[in-house]
Amino acid sequence: MPDKRHTYAFPTHIEYGPGARDDLPDFVVQTGLNKGLLVTDEALKKTGAAGALMKSFAKKDIELVTFSEVQSNPTDDNVYAGVDIYKKSQLQFIVSLGGGSPIDVGKAIKCLTTHSGPLEKYDDSKGGDRLIKNNMPPFYAIPTTAGTGSEVGRSAVITIGKTNVKTIIFSPYLMPTIAVLDPLVTRSLPPHLTAATGVDAFVHNLEAWLIPQFHPFADALAKEGIARIFRNLSTAVKNGDDIVARGEMLLASAMGATAFQKGLGINHSIAHALGVIYDLHHGLANAAVLIEVMRFNAQEPVIRDRLASLGSILNTKNEANAVIAAMADWLLSVGLPLNLKHLGVREKDIPAIEEYALNDPCCPLNPRKVQPGDVTRIIQKLL
Ligand SMILES: [Fe+2]
Repeated sequence: MPDKRHTYAFPTHIEYGPGARDDLPDFVVQTGLNKGLLVTDEALKKTGAAGALMKSFAKKDIELVTFSEVQSNPTDDNVYAGVDIYKKSQLQFIVSLGGGSPIDVGKAIKCLTTHSGPLEKYDDSKGGDRLIKNNMPPFYAIPTTAGTGSEVGRSAVITIGKTNVKTIIFSPYLMPTIAVLDPLVTRSLPPHLTAATGVDAFVHNLEAWLIPQFHPFADALAKEGIARIFRNLSTAVKNGDDIVARGEMLLASAMGATAFQKGLGINHSIAHALGVIYDLHHGLANAAVLIEVMRFNAQEPVIRDRLASLGSILNTKNEANAVIAAMADWLLSVGLPLNLKHLGVREKDIPAIEEYALNDPCCPLNPRKVQPGDVTRIIQKLL
């Protein structure tokens, strides 16, 4: 409420626009550093995107050493391998080129260049954030998807191999020094990944918006992000070369990740469970459970009102059921599933899904309190 104390932080330096990627070396030149680690994945290495970036740095006499052993659900072993190269080659800064995984791994590598291991020591749910000091090298992030918004976020999600638990490493100091949002970079993302990652960004904005906490800055960004994704995702999916739609998606993705400093909710808790148990794509999982989760949330009057207020943005009535129906039509229009029927989810795994989701850090933030049995009922409706 406006009569109480609050803290707001929106500090990321963003360079946006077609060609912004090629300007990044100029910013690094200003730091006087000339040898960095490029964190990417095998697929991007093959497309030549990593090579093109290295060339643009070489023109400014800056060497990048490539590290591409990043899995789609990155592990602590990926991080340790990157730290090893960083230290052995005596590097001075880090550039991540990729989706959420290389960017999250870049953040975790950055942490372990100046902090001792093991990585799980910094687990946010165990107060590890207090151990992270502001003494880390510069870190630049170039997203190749418009989804996670990790380029403006302060956390890295890394699976700890020993426990197979997705662990959040969180600190404001992990935030990239510069986030480079270049729509030319996301042009090559294929339609199904454009759709799945785009819905992830939509759900970040939506879950942040639905939390009834007093945060006018995050709310404004979340509503704007929802509108931009709803208007542009279909174009980005159908015509990947549309720079305006690609740019709008990148902006809205960054808005979502900035807004979700308010928190996320049970949609993400279930998506995390499906990611860990079935290795299901995070955006696809978010899309598949979205409608049923919104029906669950809409039982709470405050949430029903907040959903209803999105009607005019989604070209429908300002009424919760109409908003949920508009979301369902929209998901279908971009080729995404509205249930888990064909995604390999099995009835017998429901207790494990529920257990994981109830223990997920996003669960307590869900605007409707989640009781034992709620996740089971949601999943059963989706099978
Ligand atoms: Fe997400």
